[in-house]
Amino acid sequence: RFLSDGKLERKNRKFLRQNLMLTLESDLMRTIDWKDESNSVVLVDQTLLPKEYRIIECKTLSSLCEAIKSLRIRGAPALGAAGGFGIALAAFLSEAKDIETITRDLEVAGKTLKSTRPTAVNLSWGVDRVLRAISDAFDVQGVRDIALQEAKDIAEEDVAINKLIGKYGAKLLKDGDTVLTHCNAGRLACVDWGTALGVARSAIAEGKEIKVIACETRPLNQGSRITTWELMQDNIPVTLISDSMAGWAMRQGLVDSVLVGADRITQDVVFNKIGTYSLSILAKEHEIPFYVAAPISTFDFDGWEGSVKIEMRNPDELRFFGSEQLAPKDVEVYNPAFDATPMENITAVITEKGIFYPPFLLDEVLV
Ligand code: MRU
Repeated sequence: RFLSDGKLERKNRKFLRQNLMLTLESDLMRTIDWKDESNSVVLVDQTLLPKEYRIIECKTLSSLCEAIKSLRIRGAPALGAAGGFGIALAAFLSEAKDIETITRDLEVAGKTLKSTRPTAVNLSWGVDRVLRAISDAFDVQGVRDIALQEAKDIAEEDVAINKLIGKYGAKLLKDGDTVLTHCNAGRLACVDWGTALGVARSAIAEGKEIKVIACETRPLNQGSRITTWELMQDNIPVTLISDSMAGWAMRQGLVDSVLVGADRITQDVVFNKIGTYSLSILAKEHEIPFYVAAPISTFDFDGWEGSVKIEMRNPDELRFFGSEQLAPKDVEVYNPAFDATPMENITAVITEKGIFYPPFLLDEVLV
């Protein structure tokens, strides 16, 4: 009855979800995808949320790089997919006539893509995975076909991996729990479903009642702009707090666990959005479990805290909010995008291969 009318169909699905809490599958498009008709990358412009939900199309490598730098597309797993699709895009744009030239073009494109954001390891991982795959090609068209297929596989696998992370992680949440999260590690940080928020989604899909407290995540407010919006799309109860309220919320007994994503996991630390480290200390002080949910593609098996570059962002992100001036225009600013949380502050790391409790050897994760 509803199939002839897209709007009614969406309404019907929303009704089913509200009443039966079916699977929490979203009506929204994937955060990032490939458009076959125009050989371009399409993505949700996250800088516009929550005011506007707009899909933009990147037809050139420079427009995709701009989208990554300005956080139109963001979140480690989504950046992995962006890296993969970026190489596919470069393959379609290359005018090379032979396999050596196109391979060189793609290596240059890979370097350009990797330089856009240095901390989330998934971006390099996505680029390198597609670059490795094209070595099986025999000609220019073969390079294009393989690059695109591999990039599409990365995107497809991301969704399946997040569902697995959700399945394992849901075991750690009890019916009635409230989880505190930071930044956005949801479907908008991935291709779909989410890592940290995917765990909450999976627990809810299993029938548990889960509430989320979202830290606003200054200075770019991924928590207040994106996490609250995406959870409200699914009717998942969410309460917004400012970053400075987290300790007090814990002391008041409002938080059962902290659940965050990761941009890079090395032997000794977890890199994630600035503010995560402080939350881990607060959680320790209040004896609240601190969980990190991330795919294996976020692990940097050779890395250590000291070997990783933390992205420093534009000081104006703190001096202004949009066009609103918040501080003296020439005030000195320190604006690292990420921090590192030592393993000893982490209760468990949830991956698609299961739950790992520190101290663990990264090699164990690979098995
Ligand atoms: O600067 P951002 O918005 O890309 O930072 C994102 C985060 O820190 C996320 O928590 C992380 O990428 C995990 S996403 C599943």
